[in-house]
Amino acid sequence: MKHSKKTKKALITGITGQDGSYLAELLINKGYEVHGVVRRSSTFNRQNIEHIFNSKHIYSHELHYGDMTDIDSLMRIVKEVQPDEIYNLAAQSHVRVSFDIPFYTAQSDAIGVLNLLEAVHKLEVKTKIYQASTSELFSGDPKTTPQNESTRFHPKSPYGVAKLYGYEIARVYKESYGMFVVNGILFNHESPRRAENFVTRKVTTALVEIRYGERERLLLGNLDAKRDWGYAPEYMEAAWMMLQQKVPEDFVIATGETHSIRELVERAGEILGFDIFWKGRGLREVGIDKKTGKIIIAIDPGYFRANEVPHLRGDASKARKILGWKPKTTFNELVKIMVDADLARFNGVKG
Ligand code: NAP
Ligand code: GDD
Repeated sequence: MKHSKKTKKALITGITGQDGSYLAELLINKGYEVHGVVRRSSTFNRQNIEHIFNSKHIYSHELHYGDMTDIDSLMRIVKEVQPDEIYNLAAQSHVRVSFDIPFYTAQSDAIGVLNLLEAVHKLEVKTKIYQASTSELFSGDPKTTPQNESTRFHPKSPYGVAKLYGYEIARVYKESYGMFVVNGILFNHESPRRAENFVTRKVTTALVEIRYGERERLLLGNLDAKRDWGYAPEYMEAAWMMLQQKVPEDFVIATGETHSIRELVERAGEILGFDIFWKGRGLREVGIDKKTGKIIIAIDPGYFRANEVPHLRGDASKARKILGWKPKTTFNELVKIMVDADLARFNGVKG
């Protein structure tokens, strides 16, 4: 790949994840030279970016081995790339898993942010930095919805607390050293590239398999939780917009709509021709397909969390006003996009 001298350079940590892959596409389309931090793993896990970097070519010039917990690697990469913009998306991003591995989550999601900021500060590289903050900073108390940039933080998980450190240390480096650092407080955003252990993708893949007789049942945790779900590529456009501002400011990015896990299941089921009704309460609650009378959803307490954020609904009016950003894809459209992609994948494999 040849690049002119004026081409802007971006460095994305977490480039192999859902958001990183969409952001890389977006920036390449805007003419950026895009670099990414990748971790060494024993099995190749670059399916989200293979089409971008032809990354079977292990020593792609744009992909650099590193880890958020290893400041030495971050210093080497930042020094070599000299990016105009850094998007820090890398994180142990699973809330439930953060209760099992709280120390590692703190290392990657809290100290990792410090490592990156300190690398940039020490190297005196003039770059703008985007920090992937989250609606998991909020308590999710229904009384505090909709949540905006001024809503009090009260995280409920080791993940949320680690991200709160990332949020605050980003602010401290901005205020102390005049660095351009912004926090994007993004509410849940999903896509066909979402990993299968997040609830949206878990539901869409499982219901497709049930529909085709490949499995009998989907086991879920808390059906009552409510989330504000948007479409991931649109949220990465917002992240880019934040770094194009003259003054670094934090923004909430959300749709302003909220839906329960139950509604998510019903909507995905409807697209696949199921007519799901609910019976029983608590751990005994089941989802039954009216047409066949079969139980296709049941509860597994293993998916409950030690502490839950019950109700998220964001107020992105600041982003609408200053960035001119607003969500385009509705909840129903999002679920349809994901179900259709899983159907295509399923039929492709079978096919
Ligand atoms: P994701 O799909 O889980 O991707 C996470 C990325 O981080 C992967 O590329 C992963 O690499 C990398 N990573 C994890 N630990 C790392 C470490 N120690 N060093 C280097 N890289 C590491 O997450 P996502 O949904 O794209 O989310 C992107 C960011 O936004 C995350 O920080 C997440 O916490 C935050 N966020 C997400 C949402 C959402 O709804 N998606 C909402 C708010 C905030 P491997 O592929 O090697 O594992
Ligand atoms: N993962 C999962 N699996 N969640 C379930 C299940 C299940 O079987 N059953 C019910 N849920 C509920 C969870 O309890 C939670 O209330 C909701 O579904 C969403 O869970 P996830 O899809 O795992 O996402 P999350 O909201 O915990 O976290 C995601 O969004 C955050 C922003 O609010 C992640 O992307 C985080 O990285 C991100 O910061």
